[in-house]
Amino acid sequence: MSAGVPDAVALAADARSCTEAALAAIADAADVAALAAVRPELLGKGSPLSGLRRRLGSLAPAARPAAGRALSEALAAVEARYTERLDELRAAERRAQLEAERLDLTELHEPPPVGRLHVITQTQRRLEDVFCAMGYTVAEGPEIETEWHNFGALNFPPGHPARDMYDTLYVDHGSPGSTLLRTHTSPVQVRVMQTRPPPLYVVAPGRCYRQDTADATHMPVFHQIEGLVVDEGITLGDLAGAIETFTTAYFGPGFTSRLRPSYFPFTEPSAEFDVQRPDGTWLELGGSGMVHPSVLEVCGVDPERWSGFAFGFGIDRLAMLRYGIDDLRDLWTNDVSFLEQF
Ligand code: PHE
Repeated sequence: MSAGVPDAVALAADARSCTEAALAAIADAADVAALAAVRPELLGKGSPLSGLRRRLGSLAPAARPAAGRALSEALAAVEARYTERLDELRAAERRAQLEAERLDLTELHEPPPVGRLHVITQTQRRLEDVFCAMGYTVAEGPEIETEWHNFGALNFPPGHPARDMYDTLYVDHGSPGSTLLRTHTSPVQVRVMQTRPPPLYVVAPGRCYRQDTADATHMPVFHQIEGLVVDEGITLGDLAGAIETFTTAYFGPGFTSRLRPSYFPFTEPSAEFDVQRPDGTWLELGGSGMVHPSVLEVCGVDPERWSGFAFGFGIDRLAMLRYGIDDLRDLWTNDVSFLEQF
């Protein structure tokens, strides 16, 4: 059995050199793919280290367990080193990939220009806010109207100058003269009364159209806001009070208002209303009056039970006064450097 001893020594020496070669090959692998490629030669069934197992049988039986354990430990050491190296190489590849895909987030850009609402829209919204605070709700009506809503229901007699082709823009729709671009927001009074039962506390802002030649104070397209109140026992005093409340709420405490007799076919009595500035000067603002009983009636509201007032004025004019704009046309040219002042 003396031959067994040198055999065991030789086996141990071979195992050491196989292990060293395997560890060197693992260290040499430059990337994950190269490492994976050498795995069968290092750890597979045909690897030199596994091959050494076949020589265990030729050892003295007493030497086999120790030699077998030593071979197993060598394989385990190679396997452990392999896994460690694989982790290292994977981490390195991941780092390289992240570096390659890195975004430079430090680049500075000007913030995008933030827009704003047009000065007319701002004015309209402020007016809505003031009237909402007074208990009104906001209503809307179409800009393309029937002749009946714009004129007929509002008591305009057939030959009234406002119905004239020279003032009103008619739309080529339906029978001739039946459809138009609304000349004021008053038709919204009719639509509201037709669709909702009183009490009504409503404002209706929106675009209106008249055949005007554009100049500093006229445009064929302009904006109005209509007010309509219908309730039991409403009087001219309520109209005056509403105008006064609005005046101080919108313009400020130094301002006051007055009503002047006037005429509109759909109100009786009718009044123009003016606002007085703190310096004492007067400013004509719009039209108003008690809703005519025949308008209530045609809209299905019983004039024996209900009464009401209405008013209407130009939003563009109000914006011009508030912001000191002296040419209406500037509101339509969409010159950003002009509009961004407001
Ligand atoms: N609609 C009238 C105009 O455009 C103004 C008005 C509104 C008058 C409501 C009385 C009542 O001139």
